[in-house]
Amino acid sequence: MLNIKDIQFAYGSVQVLHDVSLEVPKGSVVCLMGRNGVGKTTLIRNIVGLEKPSKGTITFAGINVANQPAHARIRGGMALVPQGRMIFPKLTVTENLRVGLAGRPGGGRAVPGEVFELFPVLKEMGQRRGGDLSGGQQQQLAIGRALVGEPRLLLLDEPTEGIQPNIIQEIGRVLKYLTTEKDMTILLVEQYVDFIKEFGDRFYIMNRGRVVANGDTPQLSEAIVRQHLSV
Ligand SMILES: Nc1ncnc2c1ncn2[C@@H]1O[C@H](COP(=O)(O)OP(=O)(O)OP(=O)(O)O)[C@@H](O)[C@H]1O
Ligand SMILES: [Mg+2]
Repeated sequence: MLNIKDIQFAYGSVQVLHDVSLEVPKGSVVCLMGRNGVGKTTLIRNIVGLEKPSKGTITFAGINVANQPAHARIRGGMALVPQGRMIFPKLTVTENLRVGLAGRPGGGRAVPGEVFELFPVLKEMGQRRGGDLSGGQQQQLAIGRALVGEPRLLLLDEPTEGIQPNIIQEIGRVLKYLTTEKDMTILLVEQYVDFIKEFGDRFYIMNRGRVVANGDTPQLSEAIVRQHLSV
């Protein structure tokens, strides 16, 4: 579904991504891991088109999108849940969800009912301001807003960062359901090894802008974690 080949990217003169290649098969959950500052968010921003690589290809559903602007990629079926959630604190939950309608391929008018089935809290709290929700509820809102566009590829940047365990489990179950039942494809940045082992299919580890390890999640051993992820 997503195939990244030999991506290079620099902020000014500082090279951040070096020949990064990565594959996300249709219907799978692929987890991108790595210590702080190794380039995970930068890679996600290149995939969705918020940054442009100086070299390499990004093939999404068979098309090289490396030169497409972000809005074209979103229309084409990508959605991003950014790091830090980035919901609108002064808009209500319902208004935040309606923002996601702009990304819908046909430009539909209503938030799909399934978003509320997946995250019932978004229905219960519809008239609350986004900023009044707990961190976990805001994350569910950010995911719900991305799902409003009915994407084929969902990109999530550290969705469990700073969230209580019961909501982490709920989010993991939703992601698993979307890939197994809805044929969605998911790439998520994640640090939490237990979450990756429970809900992920494959993993990639980055270090200083390079992919240094990858495999199926059952192969994610303590030795690999110690080598590449412990601080
Ligand atoms: N807009 C920017 N301009 C210049 N340098 C940047 C910019 N954004 C990030 N960087 C630098 O690029 C490198 C990679 O940053 P990035 O945010 O991709 O890392 P990350 O792996 O997502 O880290 P974290 O785990 O903290 O989210 C870091 O050295 C960072 O300081
Ligand atoms: Mg990041």
